[in-house]
This record gives sequence, C-alpha cells and structure tokens, in this order.
Amino acid sequence: MTEWWGDAVVYQVYPRSFADTNNDGIGDLAGITAHLDHLAWLGVDGLWISPVHPSPNADWGYDVADYFGVHPDLGTLDDFDALIEEADRLGLRVLLDLVPNHSSVQHPWFLDARRGRDAAHRDWYVWADPSPDGGPPNNWVSSFFGPAWSLDERTGQYFLHSFLVDQADFNWWNDDVRDEFDRILAFWFDRGVAGFRIDVCHMIIKDRLLRDNPPATTADHFMDQLRGQRPEYNSCRPEVHDVLRRWRALGARYDPPRVLLGETYVFDLDQLASFYGHDDELQLALNFPFLLGDFNADALRDVVERTEVTLPGEATPVWTMGNHDVSRFPTRWCGDDPRRARAALVMLLGLRGTTVLYYGDELATPDTNVPVDRLVDPVSVRYHPVANRDAARTPMRWNADRGAGFTADSVDPWLPFGDAAAGSVADQRDNPDSALHLTRDLIALRRELPALRAGRYETWPAPAGVWAWRRGDSALVAVNFAETSTALNGVDGTVRVSTDRARDGEPVGGRLVLGPLEAVIVALT
Ligand code: NOJ
Ligand code: CA
Repeated sequence: MTEWWGDAVVYQVYPRSFADTNNDGIGDLAGITAHLDHLAWLGVDGLWISPVHPSPNADWGYDVADYFGVHPDLGTLDDFDALIEEADRLGLRVLLDLVPNHSSVQHPWFLDARRGRDAAHRDWYVWADPSPDGGPPNNWVSSFFGPAWSLDERTGQYFLHSFLVDQADFNWWNDDVRDEFDRILAFWFDRGVAGFRIDVCHMIIKDRLLRDNPPATTADHFMDQLRGQRPEYNSCRPEVHDVLRRWRALGARYDPPRVLLGETYVFDLDQLASFYGHDDELQLALNFPFLLGDFNADALRDVVERTEVTLPGEATPVWTMGNHDVSRFPTRWCGDDPRRARAALVMLLGLRGTTVLYYGDELATPDTNVPVDRLVDPVSVRYHPVANRDAARTPMRWNADRGAGFTADSVDPWLPFGDAAAGSVADQRDNPDSALHLTRDLIALRRELPALRAGRYETWPAPAGVWAWRRGDSALVAVNFAETSTALNGVDGTVRVSTDRARDGEPVGGRLVLGPLEAVIVALT
C-alpha cells in the first residue's frame, strides 16, 4: 500500500513570510492556520514548516535555542496546537523542521558547555584542542566558507560549527544527545506532527578522529572545489545511518507512521540512495542534483533517469524546484519567462514520487529584488549578489492591497514585498489561465490518473530540446524546452493539461505537436 507521502505534494511554508495576524510585519502560526484553506483548495497533501522554535535568528530559525517551544514572534504552543487541529480538519499533514546538526550558541546546553571542560553538556558539542601551532584542530571549512572551528578562549578549546559561528555542532557520538533528540521527536509526534524535514541530514555525525579532509579535485562538485576540499570526514559518515534507523523506528511506533524527509544535500546519487537504507531510514530524500541542475531537457532528463535507476526499488524520489536557500525557479531556471515557469510546473508535477512546492511556486513568484540595506540573512549580506537567500524569502502576496493581505496596509514587513506585477493569490484565482490554476489542475490530475500517481517512469523518444516520459502505460508528459514548435510521434490519447490551456481536452491521434516552451500531459489510449 502506498503511504500518504508516497505520491504526495508537500508545500513548504516559510513561517515568517506566510501571513501576519498581529500586524508586527512577521508571519506567524495563526497566519498559517488562517490560510490552510488555500492549501486545501490547491489540493496539496501536507505542509512542511521551516523552524518555528525560539531562536536568536542568526540563521532565521536554523539556530534553535529551545527545541520544545515556539518562537514568540510566531506565537505559542497553543497556536501550534490550533494549527494542527485545523490542518487535521482539512486533511492536511504537518511536517516540522528538525535541526539536529547544531543548536544556537545561545541554547542553554551550549551556554553550559562553555562554562568549563567538565560542564554537564560539554560533550554534547564537538570540542577539540588547538593544533600544535595553536590553530584550528583540522582543516574543515564551514558550509558557508571560512574555518569550521572557533576558539573558546575561556576553556582553551575550539568548537565546531559547520555553518555560522552562531551554530555549534552537536556531538552525535554522545548517547545523551541521541536520547534528547528522541525526546524532541516524540514531543512533536505526540502533538500530531506527521513527520520532519531533517536539516543537514547527511552531516550530523563527524569522523570520530576529526581527520583532515582531502583536497578537492576536478572530479569533485563545484562547491567542494570552491571550498578546496572534499567533505570526506565531516559529511556522509557511515554512522549517520544508525541515527536515521533509530528515528525511523521511533516514527514507526506511531499510527500512522511518522515520515522523515531528509535535506540530503549530496550530489552523488549513490550517496542519495544510501539515505533510504533498506527501507529502514528516510522515507524521503530531497534531490539536490535535480534542484540545482540546469534547466534544459538533457540535464534534467539525465538526473531523473539516473535517480530512477539508482534509488532502491521501493524508494520514493523527491523533486523540488525551490526552497528558502536558493533563488526561486521562475528566476533561476526560467529567466522570469512565464512560459518557461509554466512548463516547469508541468514537469515537476508529472514526475514519479513526492513533490515539494515552495510557498509562492504555485503563483510562479519570481525572486524579489531586496535592496542591500534590507538584507537580513547573514549569508545574503556576505555573498550577495552571488548568493541571496532573502530574495526567495519575502512575504506571500495574498491580494493587491498595500499590505498584500500579508499584513496591515500601514505595516512594513520584515522583508520587502516582491513586485506587485508578479500577481497575488486573489488575482490568480480570478484568472483560469494563471499559474495558480495550472498548479491546482495538475495536482488534481495527479489524483485522478493512477498512472500519474504511481506509474513507473520511462523516457519517451523525443527530438532535441524536448524531454518526454511515460508514466505507467497510460500517461505521457512532454516538455518542450525550445523556442520552436516540434512534435512527438506515436502518441494517441487526449491532452489533459497543457501550459496552453486552450488545448486541454484536445484529442491526439499519432502526432503530438508541441508549441514553443509548451508542456503537456496526455492521457494515453
Ligand atoms: C539548511 C537550511 O535549509 C539553511 O537555511 C540553513 O542555513 C542551514 N541548513 C544550516 O542550518
Ligand atoms: Ca505576526
């Protein structure tokens, strides 16, 4: 039997930017609850909410200071319970974000750990003596670049931070850390959470000997080459699988079983496959080679084909075109060309497996041009315009009011609104030809056609610039990435959804013509 998540559409909510109910310019849990009807109308199965816990917000929630609470900016535990209750009523599952690689340096555990080498929580984090020259214990670099170690003057040792200096890495060799995280998972599972997206899933456990990483070679991924090293000893360690099996077993004690969706930020598909274990680790592993691939037929077909053959037989692939860390797909992939963005939506929702939409994807929202003096993400501040995460984190546009239906008209939101011309939920709901209706109709079609739901993936022969595939025996997806018309042969059936909505329902007898940048789903006869 397919579990609910096996062919699901999950919608990622960035809580500070979804809807603000108390007019402080910051989205909140009550705002999510108030707009769950939008998600139900869209037809998604569930939502993943980026971190909601108390946090100094050095990394906007990914620096947790209390794993059992709700950030006061976002509301209270009661608001959280109300959200779950409303989601249940609407048949929506709620996933939270679990941040197990690191806590905030302001977390009481780390404050205690800093007190002395014999502090109760000292060993909950990764500490090491300076190297003989007084420098960092090894050569590891932070994912955000620069050394991954900082010296704690008072205790004379370095602590590890694989991201910001404000985020201290836990020591996953310590059983107390494992036990505490079991309690964290159970706490939220007991409150009705359907599962977790697991932040930095692949990195949580580090080499026990803290060995130096080898230099990167030209065979390594571009980002590793930029960092100058292959993350051999601080990523994808074999012992991470023990932790994932433990969490999977914990989730299996619940009815329905809780789901684990990993932020498996790896570029090697064998590594990606390893996180599914023998159906005893993650049920779902985010596919970064797809997300960060080039938007053309050859590149994306290649990732999907290789993923389909590399994942274990029973595994569900997970496809996404955006998240809070990357430029939005209509800008990054589609050059802000709405035709391409529509084709991308057909492509995404035509793939086998689980789809994760990022809030605003359903509107084909492009990046927001956030003025430099409004940037709030430290990574964006440091690396814009090369990297700009704030551009994809700006408030949702619900309507055409000054406050965009996100907040009161007089309020300046925590990040500026995007260009009004990009459209709001209300505008797009009024327009049957909008990206919003296209997304909704595609989701509905996935529900309607069993082949689109669960049918196997099989590449269909297509001319250059076109990527086409069959799903099971009775559905065909074809995406024309080219600016010129073209055709596929041997297609008999009915166009069910096209980016050119005038073609919906059109019969196809042998030859399927595709207009420039058109994408279609055909029910085959
Ligand atoms: C991945 C998260 O998605 C990102 O926003 C964060 O900065 C890092 N992990 C560190 O937690
Ligand atoms: Ca608010």
